Parts: sequence; structure tokens; C-alpha cells
Amino acid sequence: MIGWHGAMNRQVQGSVFIGNASELDPLETHLVETQAGRFCVRRWRDEWIVHSAVCPHMLGPLNEAELDKHGNITCPWHGYRFDVSTGQNIDAKCNDLMQAPRLIERDGKLYLD
Ligand code: FES
Repeated sequence: MIGWHGAMNRQVQGSVFIGNASELDPLETHLVETQAGRFCVRRWRDEWIVHSAVCPHMLGPLNEAELDKHGNITCPWHGYRFDVSTGQNIDAKCNDLMQAPRLIERDGKLYLD
């Protein structure tokens, strides 16, 4: 399931508010729209992580990609794979993922900075 946060994200001192960490469903991929692009916020090994939601090959929707047990996602359009911790295209078929903003937790709230 995918959570959509594009309409409700708001800038707070240059940061984009995602939500209260305790209220975000850890089983969902949360799609976040920012001025820098679209990003996925999701849980991986008991941590919130962030990565680009846009495939660098032909702009496929990486928010629809499942995160496997190795921390890799596979683009649903042409099957290129990416390591979400480094952003690297592990097939060496296209560019790496766009660099993601920092994900920070402040007072129990998650932001992209
Ligand atoms: S658009 Fe992602 S692999 Fe082609």
C-alpha cells in the first residue's frame, strides 16, 4: 500500500513535513512531493529511509517497487534494480538514483531536509 503525502506536505524552516513517526504506517511506502522531486519514505530494517521515487531510466514509478530483503528495489517498468542505501543502479544499465534529501526526526516528527 502507498501513502500519498504530496498534498499535505508543508515547508517548515526549509524542511518538508512528512508526518508523526508514530502514526506513519511502517508497512506503507509514503510518497512525498518536494520542490526537489518525488521521494519514497519507507521502513527498512527498523529505520525510516528515503530514496527517489523516480527511476532514472525512463521515469518509472519507484514508489510501486517492492523493497526486497537485500535493500534493493526493482523498477516495475523495465526491471532495473537499485540499492536504496546508495542509490546505485546495481545492473549498471542506467544512472543511479537522484540523491535524496536527508530524513530527519525531530520531536517525533519526520521531515525531509
Ligand atoms: S523506467 Fe525504470 S527501468 Fe525503465
